[in-house]
Amino acid sequence: MVKTMSSNNKLDHAKTPLYSALMEHIDSRVIPFDVPGHKRGRGNGLLKNFVGEMTMKADVNSMKPLDFICNPTGVIKEAEDLMADAYGADEAFFIVNGTSQAVQAMVMSVVGDGDTIIMPRNVHKSAINALILSGARPHYIYPHIEDKYGMVSGISLENVKDAIKEAPNAKAIFIINPTYYGVVSEIEDIIEYAHDNGMAVIVDEAHGAHFPFHEEFPDSSIKYGADMVSSSIHKTGGSLTQSSVLLLNEGIIKRDRVKTVLNLTQTTSASYLLMTSLDLTRKFLVTEGKNRYEKIIGLVRNAREKINKIEGLHAYGIEDFDKKACYGFDPLKLGVNVTGIGLTGINVYDILRDDYNIQIEMGDTHNILAIISIGDSDKEINQLVSALYAISNNYRKEKLNLDFHQFNSTNVVKSPRDAFYTEKEKVDIISAKGRISGEFVMIYPPGIPILAPGERISEEMIKYIELLKKENGLLSGLEDGNAQYINCLKEVK
Ligand SMILES: Cc1ncc(COP(=O)(O)O)c(C=O)c1O
Repeated sequence: MVKTMSSNNKLDHAKTPLYSALMEHIDSRVIPFDVPGHKRGRGNGLLKNFVGEMTMKADVNSMKPLDFICNPTGVIKEAEDLMADAYGADEAFFIVNGTSQAVQAMVMSVVGDGDTIIMPRNVHKSAINALILSGARPHYIYPHIEDKYGMVSGISLENVKDAIKEAPNAKAIFIINPTYYGVVSEIEDIIEYAHDNGMAVIVDEAHGAHFPFHEEFPDSSIKYGADMVSSSIHKTGGSLTQSSVLLLNEGIIKRDRVKTVLNLTQTTSASYLLMTSLDLTRKFLVTEGKNRYEKIIGLVRNAREKINKIEGLHAYGIEDFDKKACYGFDPLKLGVNVTGIGLTGINVYDILRDDYNIQIEMGDTHNILAIISIGDSDKEINQLVSALYAISNNYRKEKLNLDFHQFNSTNVVKSPRDAFYTEKEKVDIISAKGRISGEFVMIYPPGIPILAPGERISEEMIKYIELLKKENGLLSGLEDGNAQYINCLKEVK
């Protein structure tokens, strides 16, 4: 159901309560006998030369005029209320430990030890880490796979109905809006159906922070009554890295519960640089975001058209996805399928960096992904398009036919928490078929686990991991930095 109290611009978004209080504090030249120990930069010239004097002066800790992250009642709360208003939520919580913490707080607010939560298998690792922390069990939905592009797409209402039939006692449903590749699922109907079945809906919108600020973007799920939404303002919104926000539609989940859960893992020394960057970014997005994004949407559309004229490359859009699992698409995600030039996305990612000085967000087996955002201009986007044109000319060979080895099913034998705490032994990955994994294996970005603790290792997964190793993919999650061994649960003889 669409929220009736759409509240954009209810408050005065020209205001920046936290930034203003911080500037007032800096101007007052209070003598600091508190932390941080660099004392406005005087104690660390090397660092001051690096980040600048203003950064050091603004790097302060909580005090009465500047409020306290663990129980905001002053200027942090005022800034959070403006953020909630900008997104149309009832409440917003500033997060300084990345969206990973927001995701963990969402999960831990709705499920506890032994509970079940329905989630798509392509969640970010922070969601599965939240299962280790909470003790809840996942009931996975396997998203639709677009074989042609070798990528996971979204989930459908039918998927959710099936999952609820299979796990009727689940307490909550977790949705991703949009996926890393920009795919938006049938969120409005999914939220309504889940609520009708008594389940809370929590949404990872790490890649959708820009959604409320232009009508061509898909909607934020907060508009459709999602109970909680985590949004990486630092990703596409433009705030400082690690700053994020957790949004709440109060009802099934109460504000005080979320605050208590956040305080389990939240720092008591939240960075005012990060929090102030959220305050300023909210003002910028509300007052100038629409014009900025308007221009950028046009630039991406242009770039897509140009790339689609380059031999062997295809920049995909909503028309390329099966409608069953893709209801919308984020126009700022510039994803390009590269197998037509005979290279993997991982190869092209490296070539762009090494030969053209261009850093893109991600390369996987079949695709590359460039994140286009509020800070881009036609100059850089044209450089990317020219580089892709040159790569197609210089490297093109026979089309690559890759078997798609990414997970499309997993066998969860133990809950992530049980697996995490069970005794383990090292096993050569090549011979780990049939064993139960005790750790994560993923490529970052995107940080979506290929294997999670508690899952039985299949031959397909081993092949996929070996392919990524051969292609020099950035594997992580394993204790063994060389990714030769994996910790598996000890077998009882
Ligand atoms: C879908 C998704 N959720 C959550 C996160 C975690 O965000 P952060 O890196 O801010 O902790 C990421 C990070 O890439 C992500 O892609």
